[in-house]
Amino acid sequence: MKNGFFATGAGIHLLPVLGRRVSVLGSTGSIGTATLDVIRFAREHYGPNAFPLQALTAQKNVGLLASQAREMRPEVVVIADSSLKQALADALAGSGIEVLAGNEAVIEAAQRPSEMVVSAIVGAAGLAPTLAAAKRGAIVALANKECVVAAGEVFRQAAADSRGVLIPVDSEHSAAFQLLDFAQTQAIEKITLTASGGPFRTWPAERMAAVTPEQAVRHPNWSMGAKISVDSATLMNKGLELIEAHVLFGLSPQKLDVIVHAQSVIHCLVSYADGSVLAHLSAPDMKTPIAHALGWPHRIGSPARTLNLAELGQMTFEDPDYDRFPCLRIARTCLHAGGDAPTILNAANEVAVESFLNRRIGFLGIAQIVEQTLEAFERLSNGQAPATLEDVLELDSAARAKAREFTGQAAGRAA
Ligand SMILES: NC(=O)c1ccc[n+]([C@@H]2O[C@H](COP(=O)([O-])OP(=O)(O)OC[C@H]3O[C@@H](n4cnc5c(N)ncnc54)[C@H](OP(=O)(O)O)[C@@H]3O)[C@@H](O)[C@H]2O)c1
Repeated sequence: MKNGFFATGAGIHLLPVLGRRVSVLGSTGSIGTATLDVIRFAREHYGPNAFPLQALTAQKNVGLLASQAREMRPEVVVIADSSLKQALADALAGSGIEVLAGNEAVIEAAQRPSEMVVSAIVGAAGLAPTLAAAKRGAIVALANKECVVAAGEVFRQAAADSRGVLIPVDSEHSAAFQLLDFAQTQAIEKITLTASGGPFRTWPAERMAAVTPEQAVRHPNWSMGAKISVDSATLMNKGLELIEAHVLFGLSPQKLDVIVHAQSVIHCLVSYADGSVLAHLSAPDMKTPIAHALGWPHRIGSPARTLNLAELGQMTFEDPDYDRFPCLRIARTCLHAGGDAPTILNAANEVAVESFLNRRIGFLGIAQIVEQTLEAFERLSNGQAPATLEDVLELDSAARAKAREFTGQAAGRAA
């Protein structure tokens, strides 16, 4: 902003946030690369020292991790698959960047003293490192919803003990965070998360039976990793997000709702007691919520697409179809059940999605595997929410084993 009454330029008030050291867990994924795009933009616009990087981590993508490291200069890089350590070390020879490998090293990276940790690993694999960051009181920019779904109670406790801050990166929760009046929570009637409806929004159930992984990962509005793309196609993603909202904002399940809005321009609506409904709008581009988290509590520039409402023309809304998208119904049941149901739900869904992507089960099989697994545990578990990381991991692994059993049976029947 160069002219005008309130012109501030880059603004001296931004200096504390631009000086934050950042670690990006999962830097080679869709959220990770978008995060580095925002940091690159900040370095170009605010100065080359903006957001110095502490750590970048990946699972196996040595080539991309090494090129990110050479360009963005983190202190340390970690490859979770330890068999790839030498390849990464060779790719970074002479750079002076420290190279570590293995799952424990990803946790160690999260423990190093950056002010902010971007949690962008996919699935429950992100749980231990994200928790390590939360426990030491880092600002956690949270994209990995699976970890708060699987371990909501554990995260709540860790954040309370460390007085750390969790800033949502999921676009709907980032929007809610920006819309919520935390001083008047009694006046909040409802949070409504919007869902695009995914690529099969208008498809009849019979047609969905033959959906291929290639069709399921082709999202109409967002470009995302494979797992979340499938979750968006089944609407499980919206179910996980309801549970995430419950954990993050502490609202009762009755105050959390979903509406299908195919254009993905409104991300969340917050209804207040006086009848006001506040909406958050932006182009469907994750660089906006990522920039919001990196700059919080200030606003920084980002390379995100800008919203052009005249070009968009119209916005549509409809109720979700719980019959054609049973994953949303199942997740809602788990939200209301609470206890250990979300942990089991998340684990079973991760197994089922992976099996679908590997063509072992069909698209409709995802909901079936998740439901069967939850039913099996209704007989087995005591229903308490797991209270420690160890409890979560134990239940997660038992639920995965059960889901794999059902997947094996389903694959056997199909063969
Ligand atoms: N993409 C979106 O637009 C979006 C929006 C909202 C929320 N989210 C959430 O953000 C998270 C990341 O999503 P994404 O779409 O960015 O996923 P993605 O593209 O699949 O990227 C996942 C990242 O995690 C790393 N990783 C995978 N498995 C790992 C393991 N076992 N240990 C350590 N690192 C591992 C990957 O490394 P390699 O590249 O080496 O495999 C990659 O860097 C998910 O929880 C998702 O629900 C994503």
